[in-house]
Amino acid sequence: MAYLKQQRPEKVTVPAVRASKERGERLVCLTAYDYPTARVVDEAGTDIILVGDSLGNVVLGYDTTVPVTLEEMLRHTRAVRRGTERALLVADMPYGTYHTGADDAVRAALRLVKEGGAEAVKLEGGASRAEIVERLVREEIPVMGHIGLTPQSVNKLGGFRLQGKTAEAARALVEDARALEAAGAFAIVLEVIPREIAKVVTESVSVPTIGIGAGEFCDSQILVLHDLIGLSFSRTRPRFVRQYADLRAQMTEAITKFAEDVRGGAYPAENESYPLPAEARAELEAEIKAAGARHSALSDQSKC
Ligand code: KIV
Repeated sequence: MAYLKQQRPEKVTVPAVRASKERGERLVCLTAYDYPTARVVDEAGTDIILVGDSLGNVVLGYDTTVPVTLEEMLRHTRAVRRGTERALLVADMPYGTYHTGADDAVRAALRLVKEGGAEAVKLEGGASRAEIVERLVREEIPVMGHIGLTPQSVNKLGGFRLQGKTAEAARALVEDARALEAAGAFAIVLEVIPREIAKVVTESVSVPTIGIGAGEFCDSQILVLHDLIGLSFSRTRPRFVRQYADLRAQMTEAITKFAEDVRGGAYPAENESYPLPAEARAELEAEIKAAGARHSALSDQSKC
């Protein structure tokens, strides 16, 4: 499992991500939300770990990412930080933390970096967020952009649908990407847009694009870990999700076997519990024996 990490052991940095485009390197990006998944994802050689606000749907059970708070993002980012060594750690700015102005955005982003240990932040939106991106970058906070389907805008969009279907929408996406690049974003996520538009956007900017449901022409790819390992409880599986494992089935099977063993008395076995050291055992046995002798003497007396 640590194979990939052994092949490329060097720490992934923001400049390395920027340079990946020119080098033609396809970066592997995944989400993680806690310590054990961060350990596995990092040790498997993932280049960028995103503590996505998708944690709202995936591990907190919300319907959307809208209710996710900064405190929730901080708690999960800290856990992922403790489990990450090599990958670049990016944390999402949750809804509401950058919508009230650049000062608020800086305050929230600084917390994700200082308290959470993130090395960069991601926020949703294009040209309309360029000023905020510029300000964050000026305050030494690397920013990853995110355009196309932006789940925090679910109420405005009316659902989670393919974006950029008209020529006008496609042109706007190119403008958004250029505005983010000019503002200093070091990479841009393209979510659920037609592959042809993703190609044009990718060719229009010098920073890497990271696709999710945006086709093969993006510079790099990202997926939500729980989709990939079959631990996602969303009602429909989007067509771009390739499931590589069925952990839900494996977990159910393991729990069912455990339940059978507990109910049938097959768990725990003798070697799954702890014996008392011989000396203490002998002492205890002697005490029990003496107590037994006292007890039978007393009952003999009461019979008389
Ligand atoms: O929150 C998230 O997981 C994301 C990815 C889907 C890119 O934004």
